[in-house]
Amino acid sequence: MKMILLGPPGAGKGTMAVRIKDELNIPHISTGDLFRAAIKNQTELGVKVKAIIDRGDLVPDELTVALVEERLSQGDTEKGYILDGFPRTTGQADALAVFSAIDVVINFTVKEEEIIRRLSGRRLCRECGAGYHVESIPPKQEGICDKCGGELYVRDDDQIDSIRNRLNVYAGSTEPLISYYTDKGLIKDVDAGRAPEEVFADVKKLIG
Ligand code: AP5
Repeated sequence: MKMILLGPPGAGKGTMAVRIKDELNIPHISTGDLFRAAIKNQTELGVKVKAIIDRGDLVPDELTVALVEERLSQGDTEKGYILDGFPRTTGQADALAVFSAIDVVINFTVKEEEIIRRLSGRRLCRECGAGYHVESIPPKQEGICDKCGGELYVRDDDQIDSIRNRLNVYAGSTEPLISYYTDKGLIKDVDAGRAPEEVFADVKKLIG
């Protein structure tokens, strides 16, 4: 199954992608994670995109599309994949349509106040990338990853100014994709404002 996870920052796309990946055994491809890995490794791409990502703007389409096209050309995507955070503009969606067909677009909806609560409380593991929330999905020991014992950190773009910018960018550039994919008959809405188990129960019904 080839699927796109659509939704505002903090909707829980990454959290659900990890569960879907385990359920369907297909790769989880997050453009945000690919960019953050490039920044961590100080590659040419990472140096180019760091400031853009920290302030919550979008990386230019040509860089993002090239990254995803290269990733989708790898053999592990033959049976399907989960695209998390891509496409984010109609330009990216048009480009994707040229190199891959899509089976379903899951659109996660959640209220703005809940998004801000989630992003301000998000913690990530520096070593394995596992995600937590200080209130709703806390680690057993504060600041330490349950899975690998790594240190938990706050993303630079989870500061309030950057969160607000990301929400504006989402409304201006990404939200139009809801009607784009509705017109293609691919959109399935999921109320993501509930507990992760409830959200995933709905997702499971959609993916069969
Ligand atoms: P990216 O990493 O994709 O960020 P995002 O879309 O802003 O999404 P987030 O990772 O913030 O949220 P999420 O929906 O995955 O939520 P999560 O599961 O983590 O992109 C970062 C940046 O990279 C962009 O701003 C842009 O600069 C660049 N970029 C990426 N893709 C691009 C593209 N295609 N084009 C151009 N630029 C691009 O959950 C959030 C928190 O809530 C966590 O703490 C989690 O534990 C908690 N949580 C999750 N679900 C629940 C729940 N049901 N109940 C309670 N808490 C929950």
